[in-house]
Amino acid sequence: MNEVYARPAEYGVGSWRCRGYGELVTAVLPLDSSYAQRLDAGDPLARFRDRFARPADPSLIYLDGNSLGPLPLATQARIAEVVGTEWGHGLVRSWHSWVGLPREVGDLIGRHLIGAGPGQVLVSDSTTVNLFKLANAALDARPGRRVIVTDDDNFPTDRYVLQGIAEQRGYELRMIHTDMDLGVSEEVLAAALDREVALVSLSHVAYRSGALADMRQITRIVHDAGALMLWDLCHSAGSVPIELDASGADLAIGCTYKYLNAGPGAPAFLYVREELAYRLRQPVWGWFGQNDQFAMGPSYDPVPGIEHFSAGTPPIIGTVAVQEGTKLLAEAGIDLLRAKGIALTSYLIHLADEWLVTYGFRLASPRADARRGSHVTLYHPDAWRISQALISVGVIGDYRTPDRLRLGPVPITTRFIDVWDALDRLRQLAADETYKALPAEISRVT
Ligand SMILES: Cc1ncc(COP(=O)(O)O)c(C=O)c1O
Repeated sequence: MNEVYARPAEYGVGSWRCRGYGELVTAVLPLDSSYAQRLDAGDPLARFRDRFARPADPSLIYLDGNSLGPLPLATQARIAEVVGTEWGHGLVRSWHSWVGLPREVGDLIGRHLIGAGPGQVLVSDSTTVNLFKLANAALDARPGRRVIVTDDDNFPTDRYVLQGIAEQRGYELRMIHTDMDLGVSEEVLAAALDREVALVSLSHVAYRSGALADMRQITRIVHDAGALMLWDLCHSAGSVPIELDASGADLAIGCTYKYLNAGPGAPAFLYVREELAYRLRQPVWGWFGQNDQFAMGPSYDPVPGIEHFSAGTPPIIGTVAVQEGTKLLAEAGIDLLRAKGIALTSYLIHLADEWLVTYGFRLASPRADARRGSHVTLYHPDAWRISQALISVGVIGDYRTPDRLRLGPVPITTRFIDVWDALDRLRQLAADETYKALPAEISRVT
C-alpha cells in the first residue's frame, strides 16, 4: 500500500505531513476558514482547477466526484474535434485512427494509474459487462473448482453478475461477511478459501465506506489457495496508486466516469495479466476479438492477447474522453493526487469530529488514512433527508443505504475551503434541523 503521509496516532494533535503538501498541521488542527485558505495557497495541484468546467452557480460545492467526475475543458474541445472533424469530415476514413484507441488508451491508464505494463489493459464495454467476461474466462481456466467468492458489501452489480454466473453454471457463490464501515477482513476471506474456490472478486475501495483493501496481501492469500483474483477498481482508479503487475493480480475491471472524469456512460477498462491474456477465453465471441477481423471468416478465431477481450464496435467518443481524463491525471501525478485525497479527507474527518458528532453523526469510513480511498462516509439516522437538505444549500454529496452520507472531494479540483464551507453548511442545517421538514421517503431516481 502506498504510504504517502504519516502523522502520530493521536488524532489531530502533533504534526501532520503529506508529501507535496508539506507540514499541514502543528499542534491542534485549527478550525477557522483561514487555515483552509492557507492550505489552498500552498496546494501544488491548485492550477488544475481552471482546467475543468465550472457550474453556473459559483457557490456550488461538488463532493460527488466518486460518482461522476467533473468535465475537463480539454475533453469538451477534443469531443468537438472528434465529432466535427474526424466524424463530420473524415467519415468512415477516421476508423484508421480510431481503431487502435481502446488499446492505446488502455496502455495509458496502465502506465499512469494502475501499475500495468503495455498490452494488458483495454478500454471496453461497461464495468458490469467486463466483469461478466473476465469472471467467466477465469472460471473456465480453473476446471474442477466450482466456487466463486465475493463479499456481501460488494457493489450490487458485482454481486448480481457473480450470482448470475454461479446460477448459470450451477456453481456456489460463497458470500463472506464484510463490515460496512471497515471493509473486507483478510482473516474472514482466508477462512472462506479452500480447494473448491476458482475465483475471488472484490472491490479495491468499498463504494459505501471508502475502505481500501490491501491488494498485495489479499491477492497473495487468494493465490495460496490456488484461485484467481479479480479486482474492481471503480473507486480506486485515479485516486489511489495501484500496482496491478507488482501485486500479482490476475484480472481487474474499473469505470472511468468517477476519478478519470470521462463523463456519464464512458466506457470502462479491463486488465488481464499478460500471460493470462494469451490463455483465457472470454465468453462474448464478437468480431472485434477476431483474428483478421475484416476477412469476415466463417468461424471465431480469437486474436491473441488483450484485444481478444473486446467484443463489438468500441464507443469512440467515450474512449477519447477517457484518454483526455487520463492525460490530465497523468500530468498531475497519481502520488500527488493521492496525497491531496488524503489531506482533503483527513481534514473533512477532523471537521466532522469537531462539529458534527454532537448532532448524531459518526464516521463510517476507516479513520486510518492508509485504509481509506478518497471519499468519506458519515453515518446519521436521518442521512437521506440530510443529503437532500445539503443539496438545497448548494453542497452536492450523495446518500447510500441504509443511513450514510457520502462526501467525495475530487482531488484534482476540490479546494480545502470547499471542504470547510461544505462542513460549515452541514453543521448549520444539522443545528437548525431544517432537514426534518423534508419528506422521509427515498427517491429512487438518485
Ligand atoms: C464498485 C463499482 N463497481 C461497478 C459499478 C457499476 O459499473 P457500470 O454501471 O459502469 O457497469 C460501480 C458504479 O458506481 C461501482 O461503484
